[in-house]
Amino acid sequence: MSLANNSITEVPVLTTENLILRAIDEKDLAGLFAIFSSEPVMKFMDVERFTNISEAAQMVTFFREKLSIGEGIRWAICLKDNDQLIGTCGFHHISPTHYKCEIGYDLLPAFWGKGIMTNALHAILQFGFEQMNFNRIEAIVDPVNTRSYALLDRLGFQREGLHRQSFFEKGRFVDVYIYSMLQGDYKNELHF
Ligand SMILES: CC(C)(COP(=O)(O)OP(=O)(O)OC[C@H]1O[C@@H](n2cnc3c(N)ncnc32)[C@H](O)[C@@H]1OP(=O)(O)O)[C@@H](O)C(=O)NCCC(=O)NCCS
Repeated sequence: MSLANNSITEVPVLTTENLILRAIDEKDLAGLFAIFSSEPVMKFMDVERFTNISEAAQMVTFFREKLSIGEGIRWAICLKDNDQLIGTCGFHHISPTHYKCEIGYDLLPAFWGKGIMTNALHAILQFGFEQMNFNRIEAIVDPVNTRSYALLDRLGFQREGLHRQSFFEKGRFVDVYIYSMLQGDYKNELHF
């Protein structure tokens, strides 16, 4: 089997019953700013809240650069009947050598509680395991981010343990839960 496929040069459009996942571009600046300046979204993130729309433009460039060097891929999450970005999700820290990556996701709070991210992650996990050939997809979560790990539990990720004071964020050391889903878990447990 070949190395994990990190040679994807364009973000493919993925569709689910209710969603379209597509590449993020300059028309999404307002949507990105709304998400990354939102207090509830940024509460458990390892970066500061956006205060200027120029940070959203830098983010678009960052996602493009990561894709071009095979280190990441990020989708805009849109409702099927509306092309407006309401969240993002994707893979980063891609390691072709070890067939693994980390998953990341965020959603505007107005859309929480509707199963949207569960639905979106089903689509990218399928793409990650079947098209990018990952063996292991990791998630790193703040133990007080209950919504995030409820989502991972719902999807069938396994909690492997707690890394104590693993990151220095916003002036303090924070613990993180490590979760993973393996290609074997995906094949055995997920039914799309
Ligand atoms: C993490 C995050 C995406 C989770 O959002 P969410 O709306 O809770 O997750 P889902 O979209 O899967 O929705 C699940 C909820 O919808 C409900 N739901 C309705 N229909 C559903 C369906 N078809 N499938 C699954 N859940 C459904 C579930 O019961 C659950 O409800 P609850 O809120 O009462 O528990 C969101 O809280 C967020 O953006 N947080 C900030 C960013 C962040 O923390 N990112 C992760 C860093 S590790």
